[in-house]
Amino acid sequence: MTKIALVTGGTRGIGASISQKLKSSNFKVIANYASNDEAAKSFSEEFGIEVMKWDVSDHNDCKEFIDKIYEQHTSIDVLVNNAGITRDAPLHKMNLENWQKVIDVNLNSVFNMTSLVINKMRENNFGRIIHISSVNGQKGQFGQTNYAATKSALIGFSKSLALEGAIKGITSNVICPGYINTEMVSAIREDILKSIIDTIPNKRLGEAEEVAEMVDYLVSEKASYVNGSTFSINGGLWMD
Ligand code: CAA
Repeated sequence: MTKIALVTGGTRGIGASISQKLKSSNFKVIANYASNDEAAKSFSEEFGIEVMKWDVSDHNDCKEFIDKIYEQHTSIDVLVNNAGITRDAPLHKMNLENWQKVIDVNLNSVFNMTSLVINKMRENNFGRIIHISSVNGQKGQFGQTNYAATKSALIGFSKSLALEGAIKGITSNVICPGYINTEMVSAIREDILKSIIDTIPNKRLGEAEEVAEMVDYLVSEKASYVNGSTFSINGGLWMD
């Protein structure tokens, strides 16, 4: 039977590559997005992937749309918690709004989404949950106390969930991408980005497809014994 994969923030950047890759591996993919209707429409038309708009930081929205998915499908087999934003500033310049927004979108969303799919996964004795963290959740980054806090939190969340789901055929794993060639990274000031790339042993940005390949493996049946792990894809920027 065709398995259903739900990818948050799945129409742009790393999420878009994950959606495409899982579709090519014969999943029925639903790509969630929050705001950019135009990008979502052209993504959906180009790749034949269903898109659904809602705010993953809003618990009621998540419930409404996940219920809709369950009206049409008996299961959500794969959840990729990919949606994330940055609001970079050193802490002495960071306001409460930019702290809270990042916590809501990057971390509270993961509670919302995962808690709403976990019971059916437990009933089905199958589930694959992937959390997209970041190298900066592992090593920290100047200007990212908010973002790094959320990205390291995903590692603790995932390991705990891995313990809870193991007996029910559910795995939970984290991928920590480094600096990937996406709009999020291109938004970094050019001179700062250049100095970051200089510190990457592989001397280049990663590609979203390189992250998607890892997701594709981790959600497969073959990966049933990979649980509670954290995978780095960062060109050697941080070895952990
Ligand atoms: N370490 C130490 N000091 C630093 C520093 C660093 N890495 N970066 C900047 N500083 C210092 C500067 O030298 C400067 O010092 P002076 O005032 O004495 O000259 C001071 O801090 C202020 O620096 P900025 O001018 O850069 O400060 P700003 O407020 O204009 O900008 C910032 C702050 C927006 C955080 C900017 O530094 C920045 O964009 N940094 C990169 C952050 C980053 O890597 N974000 C990743 C986004 S992509 C992503 O998150 C995806 C992923 O998962 C990897």
